[in-house]
Amino acid sequence: MPPELTGGQPCEVYSLHPGIKMHLKGMKTWDITFSNRYKFEGGVLRKKSWEARLQPPAFSQRFLRLGGESLRLVPRARPPQPPMLESNFTMSRPFDVGIESLNAPPGTAPSKSVSASSSLNAGKSFYLETFGCQMNDHDSEKVSGVLLGRGYRAVESPAEADLVLYNTCSIREKAAQKVFARLGDWKTTSNGKIIGVLGCVAQQEGEEIFERAPWVSLVCGSASYRRLPELIAQLETGGRRVTGLELDTEETFETEITRRDNPFRAYLTIIEGCDYSCSYCVVPHTRGPERSRSSQSVLADVRRLADAGYTEIQLLGQTVNSYRDPSPRGLNFVELLLQVAGVPGIRRVRFTTSHPNDFTREIVQAIDSTPALCDHIHLPVQSGSTPVLRAMRRTYTRDEYLEKIEWIRAARRPISLTTDVIVGFPGETEGDFAETLSLLDILQCDGVFSFKYSPRPNTPALAMPDAVPEEEKGRRLANLLEHQRKIQVARNQPLVGREFEVLVDGRHDARGQWTGRTTSNRTVNFVSPRESLLGEYVQVRVTRAGPNSLVGEQAF
Ligand code: 5AD
Ligand code: SF4
Repeated sequence: MPPELTGGQPCEVYSLHPGIKMHLKGMKTWDITFSNRYKFEGGVLRKKSWEARLQPPAFSQRFLRLGGESLRLVPRARPPQPPMLESNFTMSRPFDVGIESLNAPPGTAPSKSVSASSSLNAGKSFYLETFGCQMNDHDSEKVSGVLLGRGYRAVESPAEADLVLYNTCSIREKAAQKVFARLGDWKTTSNGKIIGVLGCVAQQEGEEIFERAPWVSLVCGSASYRRLPELIAQLETGGRRVTGLELDTEETFETEITRRDNPFRAYLTIIEGCDYSCSYCVVPHTRGPERSRSSQSVLADVRRLADAGYTEIQLLGQTVNSYRDPSPRGLNFVELLLQVAGVPGIRRVRFTTSHPNDFTREIVQAIDSTPALCDHIHLPVQSGSTPVLRAMRRTYTRDEYLEKIEWIRAARRPISLTTDVIVGFPGETEGDFAETLSLLDILQCDGVFSFKYSPRPNTPALAMPDAVPEEEKGRRLANLLEHQRKIQVARNQPLVGREFEVLVDGRHDARGQWTGRTTSNRTVNFVSPRESLLGEYVQVRVTRAGPNSLVGEQAF
């Protein structure tokens, strides 16, 4: 039985990457090779194996610098260790990683004042709540990494935390309202805590957040996350109000340490921001212009993740397929996809969200020819009516979108399709809406994310005439949901009796079921006589089909 890594302890150790350079305090540089494998079992992250080798082969302190961070390695359940003098050691027990001093910008030595303030963090804790999309979820993983790297501890409830952060979403009004409701909770109870607003609401509302909620100390949009360590350092040294609201950054937000919350699927941002200007959308305003990461850094991350035991990678971007490698290699999206899929150990590669305008035949051909590229494409259409698409500034017509769908449907390997739809956009008539329903009939999607149009600040659609009344939007949404439900029932029914490979990612004890995903991203709940399946790929035979998921049994 492998040793347990958790038990209420932080498990940020799984973000230590193989091959990373470590420096001892005193700035001597050391190479460290980690090889670690993890499994998630019964809600506990277990280490399958862990080995660390230091080169040169000795160190006399328990303080190490990892990238720009200083780490304190504390063996758990043991008194402080005498200096280790072995040339290599096998970590037979888990250890917690705490941070000894604040990190300086990568590549610079920590200054005195920086390390002095680090002691302020000893024992400090943070709580981070995330709203919105997968990009936000993954940004939060990176923000957690930054904080863990500074010595903060993650806690489960905001009441226990010294630093309370909300990573916010403003794509629709309701999401933004939720954030202000959360902030309201602290009106009279924030004493001593640092309250911070990150993400899209931060970018959109800016310093006005301080007016509405004067107890907030930090407001930082995602385009400025590179400055987060510096902003947090300012707060730690007594700063009362700090902001990061610049949009004109050229850089992407990459971190030395990312706390990965999903032990089976690793998210990786390859492109940030958006250069489109859909008339309903706040994203270009809140996330800034498009910036792609270099293919070398993406691939280095994928190799590290594979070494850490991940087999499934999901590449992220608001318009992921607009990717353009900014390095001299100049890879396009498909070239990057193929290279990611070729990294040893990677079995599944997903990507989201694609923009139809940048969707090419080559993407379909790549999926067709490369089993590691998952047979699923999320391609938001937004509306089935060309006049509405024009008003939305989507840059394609209904027919142009359908042409791309034909490429997908002509693939040798069946490819699952999902989409996003907005109903009740200003000026959308009954006829336009009927076009959307008829489009769904043609698309035969396996999932549709549908939304009522929500007017957003700083967007061109705000000034458009002919708003659709709320009740009518509600009626259209309900109508669309029912229409699509029938499509999904009809699509899933023929899957009964078929077998799929499933990556098991959860267990529902009360129902005695395991749950996992097929490569086409279908959820399958299934029974198995096996006691331990988490993180494994198994064959499952489908026994029943609902509109949104399948039920089955492990096939032997
Ligand atoms: N109102 C409703 N839905 C919206 N989306 C984006 N902006 C709005 C808005 N103002 C939807 C789109 C997009 C998804 C992430 O959110 O369908 O694809
Ligand atoms: Fe928003 Fe359009 Fe950019 Fe998507 S492509 S993030 S909908 S502006």
